Amino acid sequence: MSTFRPRRVLVTGGAGFIGSAFVRRALARFDGLDRLVVLDALTYAGHEVNLAEVADDARFRFVRGDICDHPLVARLFAEDDYDTVFHLAAESHVDRSIDAADAFVRTNVAGTFTLLDVARRAWGPDAAASRRFVHVSTDEVYGALGPEGEFTEDSPLCPTSPYAASKAASDLFVGSFYKTHGLPAVITNTCNNYGPRQLPEKLLPLMIVHAAEGRPLPVYGEGKQVREWIHADDHADGLCLAAERGVPGERYNFGSGDESSNLELVTRVADLVDAALGRPEGTARAQITFVEDRKAHDFRYAVDCSKAKEQLGFLASRALADELPRTVAWYLANEDWRRAVATDEHARFQRAHYAGRGGQGGRP
Ligand code: NAD
Ligand code: TYD
Repeated sequence: MSTFRPRRVLVTGGAGFIGSAFVRRALARFDGLDRLVVLDALTYAGHEVNLAEVADDARFRFVRGDICDHPLVARLFAEDDYDTVFHLAAESHVDRSIDAADAFVRTNVAGTFTLLDVARRAWGPDAAASRRFVHVSTDEVYGALGPEGEFTEDSPLCPTSPYAASKAASDLFVGSFYKTHGLPAVITNTCNNYGPRQLPEKLLPLMIVHAAEGRPLPVYGEGKQVREWIHADDHADGLCLAAERGVPGERYNFGSGDESSNLELVTRVADLVDAALGRPEGTARAQITFVEDRKAHDFRYAVDCSKAKEQLGFLASRALADELPRTVAWYLANEDWRRAVATDEHARFQRAHYAGRGGQGGRP
């Protein structure tokens, strides 16, 4: 198995949750890395504090900018002659895409197109030996499963939410640039991520923070939907492998096998928070509030990642049973981080979103 070695790397969305986990892994893992540039617009979801640990690394540079800005992206490619792009910048929250999908079409579709267009012009048609474009996507592009089965890389794209549709559209553009222009692109489709530095609008950090603060834990519908949970550091390792060993034109699923219904997971979080704060058992469970279900809520996602295991040597090594208590502990110990990412925009969205569904998710 030949190994590709990234030297001059562009990471889009590196100030977000997974992007910042990936930047930490890439700087530690890639031998011979000369430079790593993060391009991030710092939307409500991006925060430079997420990159504080690597800010002094001489190989690292942060550029605040928009992936839809063609002249900016072209200038960065001309300045740094990237051999590898890890494309993580996206609007990533399903609930926001249901409220208004404009930003999802702009960033996830048009922004991805801009990066592809600049990369193929800069790299030319014979880049397979010397360049890689890793497109970071989601298992949500495949649609919803019933209680049994798993998505494979051959499952048809059948997205439900506008978020999932925008990611599926971006996957199709990436595939078309591989087929049409020979762009050496690899697509990765990963299940739900968890770990430190995830914005408390996604299920796990939201429930941890609300449990700690004595606020309602808003479970959609009856909480029966099932998600597969992978630690962001395992995902980051997978993305490194996708560049090092992935075959251009191929798609790889990354998963963990750790499935849980939402209610089961929220209950575990509630108990962990009570234990960590020394409160009587059942305190946080009593905060669970069933609220109006998400529109067109996908019942279950799960991926078969045997292709990534066999062809890339990928294996998620962090089990939810071990990492959930650590994740809870991280959010409880990092109130400064929670304050740093709690913007007014975020608070406004949370208030409006939960007020209408019979819960009180937003800040009082
Ligand atoms: P996130 O919302 O935490 O971070 C997204 C980052 O992209 C932010 O830093 C934001 O500022 C930046 N960004 C948004 N629009 C931009 C633009 N126009 N130009 C430049 N930067 C912009 O998201 P995340 O959870 O870290 O997800 C990262 C990627 O992984 C996304 O592509 C997402 O679709 C994919 N993914 C996420 C999950 C998950 O469970 N979170 C699972 C599978 C795949
Ligand atoms: P989320 O973290 O938004 O990820 P995704 O929609 O990409 O899977 O949600 C995970 C699951 O948790 C999903 O089934 C919706 C549910 N959920 C709730 O029940 N309550 C909440 O407040 C949120 C944010 C999500």
